[in-house]
Amino acid sequence: MTYQLLGNPASPFVRKVRVVLEETGLAGEVGHLNVTTTPTAPADEVTATHALGKIPVLIRPDGCALYDSRVITRYLDARAGGRLYPQSHIWETLTLEATGDGIMEAAVLMVYEGRCRPEDKQDRSWVDAQWLKVENALDAIGARWMSHLAGPLDAGVIAIGCALGYLDFRHDDRGWRKGRDALDDWFAVFAEHESMQATRPF
Ligand code: BEZ
Repeated sequence: MTYQLLGNPASPFVRKVRVVLEETGLAGEVGHLNVTTTPTAPADEVTATHALGKIPVLIRPDGCALYDSRVITRYLDARAGGRLYPQSHIWETLTLEATGDGIMEAAVLMVYEGRCRPEDKQDRSWVDAQWLKVENALDAIGARWMSHLAGPLDAGVIAIGCALGYLDFRHDDRGWRKGRDALDDWFAVFAEHESMQATRPF
């Protein structure tokens, strides 16, 4: 193995990288170092290579550390031939990936609010505002992106799949499927992809 991926199997950003590794056929070249890291207690292994202390980080064979997830997925795809960032739809692909990443970010921040702050300092209205971002983004996907999701696999499609997988994993009680039948149907099929099955969060 020539690369090392610093991550955590619960992180949707790490999952996105792992799905790209599976889809590009590069998974066998990468070893995994699982770390426990939060904004208030970043893991030493991570800060040693990424000053901001965030996962994922991909260490290349020459020792160079690549981050964040969008840089890593684009790097891996470039190595594998460029199928997941097609030039013909590059701006749409990047915009959809940013939408998926934004959903992940808001959903992860909600988890951190409960995990990292003392109970009496937690702010329910702030958590609800994060969830509203998620809901608005899901509605925008339903209104504008369903035909893209139905097309060839790309990094944007993967990001949405990983974002929805994380909502199921950590925010199942919020019921994101309600009133979103088309997205629900799409995800039911997408979640069965081998790359998604091989990277289920735990
Ligand atoms: C989680 O446990 O949900 C999580 C862990 C690491 C990064 C992001 C989320």
